[in-house]
Amino acid sequence: MSQTRLHATQVLYQVVHKQQHLKQAMVQHVPKQLPEQDTAWIQHACYVSLRNHFSLQKRWQKFIEKPLKDKWLGELLTLSLAQKFHMSTPDHAIVDEAIKAAKKNKKSWASGLLNKVLRLAMNDLDFKAEDEPAKYEHPQWWIDLLKKDWPKHYQHILTANNQKPPLWIRSRDTQKTYAGQPHPQIKTAWLLDDNKASTSSALLRGQFSVQDAAAQLAAEILSPQAGEFILDACAAPGGKSCHLLEKQIGIQLDILEKDAQRLKSIKQNLTRLNLHANRVIHGDATRPDQWFAGKPYDKILLDVPCSAAGVVRRNPDIKLARKPEHLQQLTALQEKILQNIAPLLKPEGWLLYVTCSVFRAENERQIKKFLATNPDFSEVKLDYNEVVECLHGVQIITGTNQMDGFYYCLLKKNP
Ligand SMILES: C[S@@+](CC[C@H](N)C(=O)[O-])C[C@H]1O[C@@H](n2cnc3c(N)ncnc32)[C@H](O)[C@@H]1O
Repeated sequence: MSQTRLHATQVLYQVVHKQQHLKQAMVQHVPKQLPEQDTAWIQHACYVSLRNHFSLQKRWQKFIEKPLKDKWLGELLTLSLAQKFHMSTPDHAIVDEAIKAAKKNKKSWASGLLNKVLRLAMNDLDFKAEDEPAKYEHPQWWIDLLKKDWPKHYQHILTANNQKPPLWIRSRDTQKTYAGQPHPQIKTAWLLDDNKASTSSALLRGQFSVQDAAAQLAAEILSPQAGEFILDACAAPGGKSCHLLEKQIGIQLDILEKDAQRLKSIKQNLTRLNLHANRVIHGDATRPDQWFAGKPYDKILLDVPCSAAGVVRRNPDIKLARKPEHLQQLTALQEKILQNIAPLLKPEGWLLYVTCSVFRAENERQIKKFLATNPDFSEVKLDYNEVVECLHGVQIITGTNQMDGFYYCLLKKNP
């Protein structure tokens, strides 16, 4: 058991202090030969620890006189308190296993400290989160930005970000029913009762794919028609590309992705679903001169790289990794991609701008800037339930009907 604590602490340390992505840290620091249930435990414990990281840290810091220099030990304390307050592990097991894990990592000197701090923090049942990061489990800059962007919705968004996400699937066969709830408008989307169905053989056989209902709206809005020439300009892992191909036989789809490693995941998905693209291009959306074949597109899907602030419940490490300066870098990249991709559209063609973010700087403000400098484009109003209308485009607020937070704006090139 202490072995699982050791690996989980290492993963947390890498994510929180070395800025490694959670999924990468799991691959790199959890031995492949571990029994499946141990790997599942480590994954669950890391997700829970990261979702509640701000308050858990405050809980043990309260009983430490000087700031703890050993960051790894800090993560072991956080993990241990996640077990106490979010995983119902008995107290004695938590302390024993933490001490053993520290010993395995050559930190026997820390036994006394772990014993004392954990026992005090576990018995501190009157603990109250005194600041907003501990109350909402997000960094202060993020909370402030949400308050500004969504004064009526910010608490709802923060709460939804801390929930365990449900399992939405995209069914290939709209006649087929599943154990769960169908989405009221999107015929392919089902919210499954069983969260483990994502590993089923039906998935491998291509009967369905795992995709949030909010993400499935992209193909609904773009509404591909037979014969159309379409570009998915930021495509990996290919969820929306595959949806477009499934939705309409006879489209010609160019799929573009800058990251070679992520491009492989698109090819795997196309193979799993037995779908065929016109071209799968390894290229940069800011440099069409390097890959554009000269024939303009009828429709373009622009699912730009973004802060992913709308999918934090699936990636709780984002809350700790993201910094305000990343947001500035991302908005600059989004602007550049939009400006360089838009000229590839035919007159009267459609461009759908998408993010999985709730920050207005990446969404309506990006479109406002674009429309101000591109008078040959205009906005097409979208009319869907479950969305909040913005200055331009619409926002699905995270958690609405159990969906991720997505932003959509449909633009049309004037004749
Ligand atoms: C939000 S994800 C796309 C998700 C995808 N549409 C789906 O539904 O599966 C954005 C993607 O854009 C890629 N990307 C980032 N910068 C890019 C660029 N300059 N050109 C093309 N792709 C880029 C990222 O590697 C990432 O895979």
